[in-house]
Amino acid sequence: MKKIILTGDRPTGKLHLGHYIGSLKNRINLQETGDFEQYIMIADVQALTDNAKNPELIKNSVFEVAMDYLSVGIDPKKSVIFIQSQIPELTELTTYFMNLVTLSRLERNPTVKQEIKQKHFEKSLPVGFLNYPISQAADILGFKADYVPAGEDQLPMIEQTREIVSSFNAIYGKTFDNPEPIIPEGKFARRLPGIDGNAKMGKSLNNAIYLSDDEKTLHSKVMSMYTDPTHIKISDPGHVEGNMVFLYLDVFGEDKEKISELKKQYKKGGLGDVVVKNYLFEVLNCLLKPIREKRKYYENRPELVKKIVFEGNSKAREVVQQTLADVRKKIGIDYFN
Ligand code: TRP
Repeated sequence: MKKIILTGDRPTGKLHLGHYIGSLKNRINLQETGDFEQYIMIADVQALTDNAKNPELIKNSVFEVAMDYLSVGIDPKKSVIFIQSQIPELTELTTYFMNLVTLSRLERNPTVKQEIKQKHFEKSLPVGFLNYPISQAADILGFKADYVPAGEDQLPMIEQTREIVSSFNAIYGKTFDNPEPIIPEGKFARRLPGIDGNAKMGKSLNNAIYLSDDEKTLHSKVMSMYTDPTHIKISDPGHVEGNMVFLYLDVFGEDKEKISELKKQYKKGGLGDVVVKNYLFEVLNCLLKPIREKRKYYENRPELVKKIVFEGNSKAREVVQQTLADVRKKIGIDYFN
């Protein structure tokens, strides 16, 4: 039997280069091995845990994310794309798991702690938000997933999932196996800085390059990238460390020889930012052009996108329904079977 992969994203906007390097590329590689059954979830229920008052954003992002997936090469014949809210059994499973986790355990989750600060939830923490790691455990275990490809910040969720596996199995009998994380390789794959040099790329910081940006937008974003503030005249020696243009070239450029030559010249002095930026634009445009074209295709066919996700929903739901039948039986609430 093929090993099962479950992964996903919160739909709170279009996907950007950080998503590409941190997870999408990984998913395409895993898909192409043909060794896995891969489920990719658009986590709208989870997105609502910190956006309950902003449902429009979630609603409008769900199909944007689906189109991003399809445009980068997630192939619906090989991977299953689905929407979390369309699988109500995941919510039911969350409810059973909630009895196995203490409040203080949830409060110790380092990723959640950090998010509480960022979102200014210290004095008005929604119960649903604190609970999302349990809901995420239900996502993973609903599919009996073997692997969860995700960023480093998701490790505490997998840890929580494993604790739930062990207490569920101990109380109700062996039902679940421990899932394993798959963390992307590469220094910046875990977190790609924004074009302004901020440690994280994101919509709220307005420092992201989106997979769907057109050529003109891409060009002007690359031209505005943070470089080396001490490199004022072309003849000045420049720094490549902390210089976003070189950092992005290291991440996305394939011609390593050319890049190391450019770095040498830049450090010595005599190489202008615009030349390097133009080269980065070429590199990124080469990556994004086919993605952009594929996106146009799907943007013009919204019914096709809907159909793909609709079919994904029913494939995914079947799997989770089987898990729930097993779970109800193990707990002993399958009264009428
Ligand atoms: N928490 C993930 C994020 O913020 C999204 C997500 C929800 C997820 N459920 C998941 C990721 C299950 C992996 C597995 O991006």
